[in-house]
Amino acid sequence: MNNRHKKTSWRSGLKVITGTITAVWLIVGLNIQSAYAENPEKVGDLLSAADTEAKLTLGRMLFSDMNLSVDGSVSCATCHDPEYSYTSSQAIPAGAGGHIGNRRPPSLLDVASKPALFWDGRMRGLERQALYPMIALNEMGNSIKAVEAYVSSNPDYQRLFEQINGTKNVSIIDISQVIAVFERSIVSKKSAFERYYLDGDNLAISQSASRGWQLFQSKAGCIQCHSYSLKNQHFTDHGYHDTAVGRQDNKRDLGRFYSTININDRGKFRTASLREVGGRKPYMHDGSIQTLRAVVEHYNNVKETNHNTPMLGALNLSSEEVEDLVAFLGTI
Ligand code: HEC
Ligand code: HEC
Repeated sequence: MNNRHKKTSWRSGLKVITGTITAVWLIVGLNIQSAYAENPEKVGDLLSAADTEAKLTLGRMLFSDMNLSVDGSVSCATCHDPEYSYTSSQAIPAGAGGHIGNRRPPSLLDVASKPALFWDGRMRGLERQALYPMIALNEMGNSIKAVEAYVSSNPDYQRLFEQINGTKNVSIIDISQVIAVFERSIVSKKSAFERYYLDGDNLAISQSASRGWQLFQSKAGCIQCHSYSLKNQHFTDHGYHDTAVGRQDNKRDLGRFYSTININDRGKFRTASLREVGGRKPYMHDGSIQTLRAVVEHYNNVKETNHNTPMLGALNLSSEEVEDLVAFLGTI
């Protein structure tokens, strides 16, 4: 075989593969689109509909049901563990069949308040999103038909769905919607910081943590991105920034670029909410930073980002100041 021939067959092989991937995506995508088009009244903010206990119960049950995955090995809760602020104690937990992606599951606390989903903001709508993990290869790897067949044949689900919809026939849209109803109920717990700041309980946090809160808003500059107000109590501006995380990695994740296809957005990620951050290590979109102290040290030492992010630069925090910030982060 001469070289030229080799090259051509390699290329046509690649074409077949990309063609197949596109076709699969089109078919799956169109099915989803048309299912939504047929049920327009079911799309949108479900909290405005009568949000019955049955929907919540169903959503909670489905969220933790491993039988929704192709090999019965993972549920939503495997990666979004209710005992771990709805993320995972593993940096990047494996999906069905041991498939591993390259991102850490974001915590689902207060997820209904997020204007856009995923670390790059490329997904919108909890109802719509809930469907994808069930069919994504590196998450639950199942097919829409198999999920519908399983849920429709389970007596507990049948009974509850009949109560809500008046029929035992359960579609993937029904399933995604009740999961979304449950997700909207996931909110962060009242924190020590809130007792201190909102209720005026000066003893709710330590003096070190209270100095940390001052630093957070001043010298350390954290509040520029992790904004906080009475309207937005999640310590995030819901924006996308390059904080020089994951730059050393060969398989660099292009982040926000995947959402906007703007080269200036390469390496930018959504500002993470900091609620309950003390109890859900490791940190960042790739789970690459192990402790809060290491996160603060990262910000203290960051010298260079791809975008010369104006809010970042050497902070010159003393070790006591680092300590204070860590103490503060532990209270929110
Ligand atoms: C194998 C692990 C895994 C499983 C199983 C899984 N997820 Fe996720 N989930 C992730 C990862 C990783 C992301 C971030 C994806 C990204 O940024 O590209 C994510 C993102 C999300 C988000 C967006 C959160 C945000 O803050 O933007 C929601 C909502 C979500 N998942 C819900 C679910 C639901 C519902 C299920 C079950 C039907 C599920 N996930 C199953 C790993 C998983
Ligand atoms: C330029 C905006 C910006 C500034 C300033 C900033 N952050 Fe962040 N922060 C982010 C972004 C964006 C992420 C997510 C980065 C990623 O995952 O790659 C993040 C992630 C984090 C996380 C990890 C949360 C998680 O769930 O994994 C912590 C903790 C954190 N920041 C604390 C701080 C502290 C403390 C400061 C001040 C010293 C600070 N940040 C300053 C934008 C910023």
